[in-house]
Amino acid sequence: MLVDYSLKMPKNVFAGENALEQLETLIPQNVKKVAIFTDKGILSVGLVDRVAEMLDKRQLSYCILSEIPAEPSCQQAQDVVDIFKKTESNFIIAVGGGSVMDVAKLASVLATDVYTVKDLLIDPLIATKQVPSLMIPTTAGTGSEATPNSIVGVPEKGLKVGIVNPEMIADYVILDARLIKNLPIKIAAATGVDAMCHAIECFTSNKRNPFSNTFALEAFDLIFNNIIEACTNPEALEAKSKMLLGSFYAGVAITASGTTGIHALSYPLGGKYHIAHGVSNAILLMPVMRFNEPVIKPYFAQAYDRVVRDRETNLSIEEKSEYILNELGRIVKVLDIPTSLKEFNVPIEDLDDLVEAGMQVERLLVNNMRKITAEDARAIYKEVL
Ligand SMILES: NC(=O)c1ccc[n+]([C@@H]2O[C@H](COP(=O)([O-])OP(=O)(O)OC[C@H]3O[C@@H](n4cnc5c(N)ncnc54)[C@H](O)[C@@H]3O)[C@@H](O)[C@H]2O)c1
Ligand SMILES: [Zn+2]
Repeated sequence: MLVDYSLKMPKNVFAGENALEQLETLIPQNVKKVAIFTDKGILSVGLVDRVAEMLDKRQLSYCILSEIPAEPSCQQAQDVVDIFKKTESNFIIAVGGGSVMDVAKLASVLATDVYTVKDLLIDPLIATKQVPSLMIPTTAGTGSEATPNSIVGVPEKGLKVGIVNPEMIADYVILDARLIKNLPIKIAAATGVDAMCHAIECFTSNKRNPFSNTFALEAFDLIFNNIIEACTNPEALEAKSKMLLGSFYAGVAITASGTTGIHALSYPLGGKYHIAHGVSNAILLMPVMRFNEPVIKPYFAQAYDRVVRDRETNLSIEEKSEYILNELGRIVKVLDIPTSLKEFNVPIEDLDDLVEAGMQVERLLVNNMRKITAEDARAIYKEVL
């Protein structure tokens, strides 16, 4: 049965070799002051310089907010929003990965509101857009530049929580591969696998629909065929460009449908042990996909037909599905991302808490085609401990 579905996207998206140069002309004439959201790491490698140069050329005043930690908590996000409010800026530019973009998106709806980030945890929809925003991702990536989501840590729950409000969707996006050219391989690999999970989870989600399928499958094609080259060859600008496009498309797929079991069970790993989002997804990718495979075989087979270039013609659905599953495992292995929690010293005594926290992420668990019970979650976590 066809249910209702919708497509929400940023209004203006610029991509290509020199896309960043669009910045100078895209900022509306009524903008008086720009707030640049970024973090210390991005600042130190000079990625904000060209942005600042172009603002100077437009004679626009700006401030730089760089006190954004990786994977911010609710309070850390609020602290930056509070600083932002005092700057009285009327345009937001985020230059960064998901952590930076998520905080910038929160600021865009909390600038003049009486609401706080905490209020949005209870009712995400109360806030409306106050300040227009431009997202320039420097990882490929979370797809946050496309989504209405902002993910913050909630330490008291040992969880990360997604705040979802369409008002947070960016007004402008610039996808320029020069921004991800020098990403350290470890960050490129983890963030690339995050994007790959977005694509394959959305394609096998209970909320899958014609819009999300189109973007998820194209995203999976771009990522599956370019992730290794993009992460391991610093000069592979074309592969990096495709990763950036793929992670944006995967973000659109999230907006139109939703991620599933990998992301649901990954939130406690980020929230409690501060394992980077991409790494915790990489750890759970194979156990969750192996668990799901019996019910998502037809979709894996469909993905095979689309993404495998030198494919064999006479394979069964089972064989195609197995091929995709094995390739997912191979990619994580080649990129040398952790596949277990061993190096993070997570004690077996924490298993009960992990299961309890994971089962709270109902927002995403309901999207998983094979129902994940507490016992299933326990078995999955146990496999990676
Ligand atoms: N809003 C969404 O739709 C969405 C989706 C997935 C994940 N997320 C969230 O995004 C956050 C993770 O974002 P991320 O994976 O992009 O990483 P990140 O933003 O946390 O950045 C990780 C590190 O990489 C560095 N870095 C980023 N770009 C760089 C570059 N080009 N060169 C050198 N260093 C660079 C940063 O300084 C930082 O130290 C998590 O909080 C996660 O929950 C949000
Ligand atoms: Zn993710």
